[in-house]
Amino acid sequence: MTFGTDMMTSNTTGDTLLKVEHLSMKFGGLMAINDLSFEARRGEITALIGPNGAGKTTVFNCITGFYKPTMGMITLRQRDGKEHLLERLNDFEITKSAKVARTFQNIRLFSGLTVLENLLVAQHNALMKASGYTILGLLGLPAYRNAAKAAIDKASYWLEKAELIDRADDPAGDLPYGAQRRLEIARAMCTGPELLCLDEPAAGLNPRESAALNTLLYAIRDEGVSILLIEHDMSVVMEISDHVVVLEYGQKISDGTPDHVKNDPKVIAAYLGVEDDEVEEVIAVELEGGDH
Ligand SMILES: Nc1ncnc2c1ncn2[C@@H]1O[C@H](COP(=O)(O)OP(=O)(O)OP(=O)(O)O)[C@@H](O)[C@H]1O
Ligand SMILES: [Mg+2]
Repeated sequence: MTFGTDMMTSNTTGDTLLKVEHLSMKFGGLMAINDLSFEARRGEITALIGPNGAGKTTVFNCITGFYKPTMGMITLRQRDGKEHLLERLNDFEITKSAKVARTFQNIRLFSGLTVLENLLVAQHNALMKASGYTILGLLGLPAYRNAAKAAIDKASYWLEKAELIDRADDPAGDLPYGAQRRLEIARAMCTGPELLCLDEPAAGLNPRESAALNTLLYAIRDEGVSILLIEHDMSVVMEISDHVVVLEYGQKISDGTPDHVKNDPKVIAAYLGVEDDEVEEVIAVELEGGDH
C-alpha cells in the first residue's frame, strides 16, 4: 500500500505521516477499538480525545507495538518516503526503524538516575553501535567518543528546550511532577523520532507547568516532528492542536479542526454524557452560561 503521493512531496508539512485504517482491538468480549480510521499529518499536532475508557491509550499501544491489533493497518511514512507497517513490528523496531517515540499515561523515568543520565540511556543503542559492542570501543575509539559527544549535545539541546538544564545533575525523582513530564518528553526526543505520541502529558499540571509544556510541544513541532497527543483538557486541545480526532466507545465520532470538533453535537453529547437528541437543549444552556 502507498499513500499515492509523489515522493518529492513526502517531506512537506501537511503530508500524511501516519495512516490508521480499520483498526480494531478486542480484549476477550470487549471491543476496545472498533474499525477506527484516521490520519496524522506531518508537522502537525493531532489530538486524540474522548471520554474515559474510549480507547485512546489502546490506540497508542497498537501504534507503538505494545499490542498487536486484532485487525487493521497502521502505516507510517517517513521523511525519506520509506513506509513501515507498524502492526507488523515490535515496540523496539517501531522506535528504532520507524522512528516513533512515546510517553506513558503514568510517568516512567529512572528516578534514581540523574536527569542527564535519563537522556543518555535513551541513546544507548546509538552509543553501543558506535563502540562496535566491545569494551575497547567503549574505552577509546574516536567513533565512540564522537557518538558520546553527540549524545550529550542532543541531551543538552532538549534539556534547554524543556527548561531543565539547571537540573541536569539532580536525580530525576527529585524533580517536581511537571518537570518530570517534560523530562519524559525530552527523553523521547533523544531517540530522534519523526512521530511523538504523548499520553495525557498535561494531566495534573499547574498553569505554569502547562505553559512550559506547551512551549516544549511547539518547539518540537517547529523542528518538523509531528505529535499525536492524548488529552482530556479541552482548553489545552483547542489551544495547541491543528487537528482533532474524537473517540467514544472505541469508535470515531468526529474528526477535523478544533473549531469543527468543538461545535459538533456528537462531541458535545459524548462529553456531557447526554443523548444526541438532547444536545440542542444542552447547547442552548451552554451558550447562556458563556463560552466553555
Ligand atoms: N490490556 C487490557 N486488557 C483488557 N482490557 C483492556 C486492556 N487495556 C484496555 N482495556 C479496556 O479497553 C477500554 C479502553 O481503554 P483505554 O485505556 O484505551 O481507554 P482510554 O481512552 O485511554 O481511557 P482513559 O481516558 O481513562 O485513559 C477500556 O474498557 C479498558 O478497560
Ligand atoms: Mg488512557
